[in-house]
Amino acid sequence: MAQDKILVIGSSGQIGTELVQSLRTVYGADNVIASDIKPTDQAKEGPFEVLDVMNAHQLGEVVTRHNVNQVYLLAALLSATAEKTPKLGWELNMQGLFNVLNLAKEKIIDRVYWPSSIAVFGPNTPRENTPQFTIMEPSTVYGISKQAGERWCEYYHKKYNVDVRSLRYPGLIGWQSAPGGGTTDYAVHIFHEAIKAGKYECFLSENTTLPMMYMPDAIKATIGIMQADADKVKIRSSYNLAGFSFSPKDIAEEIKKHIPSFTISYNPDSRQQIADSWPQSINASEASKDWGWKPDYDLKRMTDDMFKNLKKD
Ligand code: SER
Repeated sequence: MAQDKILVIGSSGQIGTELVQSLRTVYGADNVIASDIKPTDQAKEGPFEVLDVMNAHQLGEVVTRHNVNQVYLLAALLSATAEKTPKLGWELNMQGLFNVLNLAKEKIIDRVYWPSSIAVFGPNTPRENTPQFTIMEPSTVYGISKQAGERWCEYYHKKYNVDVRSLRYPGLIGWQSAPGGGTTDYAVHIFHEAIKAGKYECFLSENTTLPMMYMPDAIKATIGIMQADADKVKIRSSYNLAGFSFSPKDIAEEIKKHIPSFTISYNPDSRQQIADSWPQSINASEASKDWGWKPDYDLKRMTDDMFKNLKKD
């Protein structure tokens, strides 16, 4: 089999930063082209391109020049940011996807990864142990774009035999990169503020339970679904994915085990309404059954690992 050549679009974001490192370890640095709208340090460790995914011509040129066969499309506006600029949120999240899917339709690339989100669910979705197939009436711009994107992925798969694979990420927490513009971002900020200031003011209320995942599990799932045999990937919209669930109060308790004097206060803002429209926990049994998904981390293991790494700095 020919060597895979991988393009990661939106490589300097929260997921891209860690995904590029892992992909370069697995496939070799030279075979993973990082790309983002602005130059980043990722150029020091392997190929890098400044790329605007909205520009189909530029995207096609980069893909052809590097002989790319797999694309991971991570460039997007997240839930809180897309509420502020709905038109840009919709355009970036949809046009970027079409530009990549069309390359696969034309057989210029042979595999696509595109992330969906728990934001595809809405206030009428069953909130606990949310099933794969259920009511989905997203109430955010981001959620609407992800749900539409899921429909298009499935459509391109059925109509044009495009090998597109997708996961509905829960909130993601990692120590290497900062999130930008999401509703679950508090769960990363809280660690940095705990270490820096010993206190944190949370923009969600204390009992707002949301589905979450530690970044190493998210990376394992992402590379896992992309490496799975095509016939095992039965769902071509997007798979439910689950780690564990917690509220701001739960994570504050866990942090206190490391920093006993840590205090948290609550000052919910517009992101509360977004969080209230999302599930509290996710049923990922289809992902487990089809391609063997299993998380390694729970809240305690994640918290221990976050402190171990953040305190090194
Ligand atoms: N973490 C994302 C957000 O909060 C959900 O996909 O927007």
